[in-house]
Amino acid sequence: MGEVLRVEGVVKDYRRGAHTVRALDGVSLAVAAGEFVSVLGPSGSGKSTLLHLMGALDTPTAGCVRVGGVDIGALSDDELTDLRRRQLGFVFQFFNLLPTMSAWENVAVPLLLDGHRLPSLKRRAVPLLEALGLGHRVEHRPAELSGGELQRVAIARALVADPILLLADEPTGNLDTDTGASVLELLRAGCAERSTAVVMVTHDQHAASIADRSVRLVDGRLVGAPSTT
Ligand SMILES: Nc1ncnc2c1ncn2[C@@H]1O[C@H](COP(=O)(O)OP(=O)(O)OP(=O)(O)O)[C@@H](O)[C@H]1O
Ligand SMILES: [Mg+2]
Repeated sequence: MGEVLRVEGVVKDYRRGAHTVRALDGVSLAVAAGEFVSVLGPSGSGKSTLLHLMGALDTPTAGCVRVGGVDIGALSDDELTDLRRRQLGFVFQFFNLLPTMSAWENVAVPLLLDGHRLPSLKRRAVPLLEALGLGHRVEHRPAELSGGELQRVAIARALVADPILLLADEPTGNLDTDTGASVLELLRAGCAERSTAVVMVTHDQHAASIADRSVRLVDGRLVGAPSTT
């Protein structure tokens, strides 16, 4: 199996008035197809910044990010939009679901943009929700769902286009420990089934322990790869 992600010597500076914050200071990391990697680190260590660069949501000050072998710094805006939609999936701490849409419609959103018709989208979205234990919630709106259910809908949405890489930022940050553990287990199973690689950033050692491999970010630098098992 090939490599889905390669981050090479990435630096990210944020300008704040007269001075500069170096959020990432020479980060290099490679992720193989189907691999689940967690990035642990304290608040402010640069985790979200790194994930945004991996997801082509921001550009590095220096260094390079390759997704599926392609240097994303060389892509046009249209190509980046395409990459985010077809190759990547995103899961965030605050779910980011559309409040007026049902659970299955939220899952189908990434496919809507491709011009599919709604009934065929429902046939794709519902089995995914069922696999995540939400077969009885497909018509519910976000306001009618629990935190753990909301995050499972977000995971289904992230997986619906069969991405090669799923990027998760503190996916259990708003869940209690037991709910978080079961949501992560479903995330792992859903990704394993599709050979989707995962990079999950978290400050929670317990959440990180679900990964195949865990690396640690401190002050914008990766420091070693401690075993999590
Ligand atoms: N848009 C920005 N402008 C200026 N500084 C920023 C910006 N975004 C992040 N930073 C700074 O960069 C550093 C890394 O931030 P980042 O959000 O990546 O940390 P994090 O590890 O995700 O933290 P947390 O666990 O609290 O989410 C922090 O010092 C932060 O203050
Ligand atoms: Mg963060």
